[in-house]
Amino acid sequence: MAAKSMQEFNNEYFNNIPNDFEEAPGILEMSFKAGNTIVDEFRKSTSDERLKNAIALDFGVGMGLSGQPVAAAVHHMVGVDAAEGMLKRLHEKLATEPELAPLRSKITTVHHLVTAESPLPEPEATKYLTEGKGFDLVFSNYVLHHIDDAKGTIQTLGGKLLKPDGWLIILDLENKLGESSHHHHHEHGHHGHSHGHHHHEVKPGHGPAGEHNPLEFTDAQGEKLKYVAHHHGFKREEAEQWFEDAGLVDVQSSDAFGMEYVLPTGKKIWIDVMMIKGRHP
Ligand SMILES: C[S@@+](CC[C@H](N)C(=O)[O-])C[C@H]1O[C@@H](n2cnc3c(N)ncnc32)[C@H](O)[C@@H]1O
Repeated sequence: MAAKSMQEFNNEYFNNIPNDFEEAPGILEMSFKAGNTIVDEFRKSTSDERLKNAIALDFGVGMGLSGQPVAAAVHHMVGVDAAEGMLKRLHEKLATEPELAPLRSKITTVHHLVTAESPLPEPEATKYLTEGKGFDLVFSNYVLHHIDDAKGTIQTLGGKLLKPDGWLIILDLENKLGESSHHHHHEHGHHGHSHGHHHHEVKPGHGPAGEHNPLEFTDAQGEKLKYVAHHHGFKREEAEQWFEDAGLVDVQSSDAFGMEYVLPTGKKIWIDVMMIKGRHP
């Protein structure tokens, strides 16, 4: 039998996500911050009008936590995901949570593994790609680090799913190893002794006295999590390059935010979330 692929590990994990997953500390905060960042960045690059009328695609929508603020802001959102269990949870939430009622008619889900050969299945491919000529906004939050071929995925998202003049916006974990704290934009104030002091034990590349505390996803035994392909996240410059190689223009990236996050094992880590966006010419 062939060794399990990253995709199989992904599906196994995401299809059996614990029931209390969204109650884990930090999950809702990191999800809503991500969704709101997508909305702000698309608006900044386009206009209020285009945001309101946009047809958006959430690549790896999962149970829709970070897609919610986007769905609320756009005209319609299609959420695609390879894990049926996640989509089932999304539908349960839409059906039972009163505050999500306004989103029920605004979200369509598609159970599909997005690949270069098959970015979307039928009938959505005809409806959104052939007839609609692509999406105004393709976005993705916290998905890329689960995928081996991150560069190829950007090519598929940017090259096959976007409308001309549409935007691809991706949020994922940033690898800050080797960078000095002056590069961090998420903390303001003095560069004095107390600057971000309480985070020092958990911030990647920011340990006390130059010690490295890299972002690393491990289980209780210290083994690397099998459903994570990029255990340290990404460097902003490498991700920008992938956007450019995919033929996107006006490519920009920024530090979106940083926050403390608690792994399922209880281990506290500091995560830096970066934003990269680019426009289909
Ligand atoms: C960490 S979850 C992110 C969920 C969501 N974006 C959020 O922020 O709330 C990653 C999701 O990506 C999905 N995924 C990974 N690779 C995929 C692919 N090639 N096609 C479709 N879904 C994929 C997984 O099934 C999983 O649900």
